[in-house]
Amino acid sequence: MAKKIKSKYVCQNCGYESAGYLGRCPDCGAWSSFTEEISENFSQAVINKMPDVNPPMKLSEIEMNTEIRVKTHISEFDRVLGGGIVQGSLILIAGDPGIGKSTILLQTAGKLCEDGKKVLYVSAEESASQIKLRAERLGVKSDNLYIFPQTNFELIKKHIEDMKPDLVVVDSIQAIYTNLIQSSAGSVSQIRECCNFLMEIAKTNNISIIVIGHVTKEGNIAGPKVLEHMVDTVIQFEGDKYKSYRILRSIKNRFGNTSEIGVFEMGEKGLIEIINPSQVFLKEYSRTQTPGSTIIVTSEGTRPLLVEIQALVGTTPYPAPRRIANGVDLSRVLQILAVLEKRIGLNLSKQDVYVNVIGGIDVNEPAADLGIALSIITCVRDVVFDSQTAIVGEIGLSGEIRGVSHIEKRITEAQKLGFKRIIIPESNEIQTKIEGIEVIKVSRIIEAITKSISK
Ligand code: TYD
Ligand code: MG
Repeated sequence: MAKKIKSKYVCQNCGYESAGYLGRCPDCGAWSSFTEEISENFSQAVINKMPDVNPPMKLSEIEMNTEIRVKTHISEFDRVLGGGIVQGSLILIAGDPGIGKSTILLQTAGKLCEDGKKVLYVSAEESASQIKLRAERLGVKSDNLYIFPQTNFELIKKHIEDMKPDLVVVDSIQAIYTNLIQSSAGSVSQIRECCNFLMEIAKTNNISIIVIGHVTKEGNIAGPKVLEHMVDTVIQFEGDKYKSYRILRSIKNRFGNTSEIGVFEMGEKGLIEIINPSQVFLKEYSRTQTPGSTIIVTSEGTRPLLVEIQALVGTTPYPAPRRIANGVDLSRVLQILAVLEKRIGLNLSKQDVYVNVIGGIDVNEPAADLGIALSIITCVRDVVFDSQTAIVGEIGLSGEIRGVSHIEKRITEAQKLGFKRIIIPESNEIQTKIEGIEVIKVSRIIEAITKSISK
């Protein structure tokens, strides 16, 4: 007899269970906290019959399966994945609608098929002919690629198990539903259960599955980040929809390095890899150099990147001055402004301050602090910063410049791109001297200013 499965509603705040949906939890009083979950009625007899297949083991008894990685042959994507798709893993690609998720996965599917792999592309959002149209545009035409327009999870599962492809793409997790839950596709319960089931399929059949997830308005993947902890790898697809650069960023990877990035450009025929992103981000730098812009060397995963930081400071027409940050954390900018005011007496309380990272990339590391500070100062003083000098360094609250990671890689990248000087924190030790670039060490913000701007 088939196992009887019913759903129940559980308060996510306190765990209270109810047979139907409740707007407010009678136990803890939380509002809108109930989500639907599958309830399996385990009696003691059922528990006794459960096979005990995986008893605890000694560490020495565990046999290691060496992980098999399948290369996508899109090197920027492979880099973010940590060297290819690990067989049997579940990967989530998250991003805003329209950013290019379906495009990159169709391109990836095409490459794998050319390599003799079988790929099932489950399209829950677009019709087969829409996918065909995109495939033609991208030049994907292998017969190893199967398109399956379907939203029902049970049917998807049946075909995956019948076909046993090397890779399954589910586009998107928000559009599929399981019959075991009554709520509609896209609800937190549907997304969570479908993702759980996909994980089970991936692990039991050793099939790699990539699911697409749209980021909601609040910036979460499918609501309250329900998916991130379930999957093996989470890759975020970032960039401005209206500009052509796209960045793939790994934010969780059970099989590799996180914070690794891959850079692409959206073109007429899909996404094109950008092998040397620093060069692209600096393309217009020397041509358009004005007061308020500097170059920093940020380190994304294992790769150093040179990016331009611009600041604009001007008298405010508003009662409270504006502080706007694009591509860097606003609270970081506010902290830098506070340090500049206290330590070098730069008073900007009647000025608006805008800080912008060129190229639509996010720089989230404190090593960008000194570059941001020097951009602001050169704008205030109306001087052009030396275009041959790159900057790295974190600013502490007492105005000290603190050491950063991967210093040698950063210096080498600046040297490779033709910079003559680099300003780095005093505390950073350099083991091997890098030829062709002068290294200027600074320990305080005031020293950085005297050594670079007011020489
Ligand atoms: P898409 O992959 O459908 O986005 P997502 O799946 O993340 O919602 O890509 C959407 C945009 O990309 C769309 O506005 C058109 C553009 N695009 C190109 O510029 N070139 C191309 O070759 C393709 C396929 C799409
Ligand atoms: Mg899509």
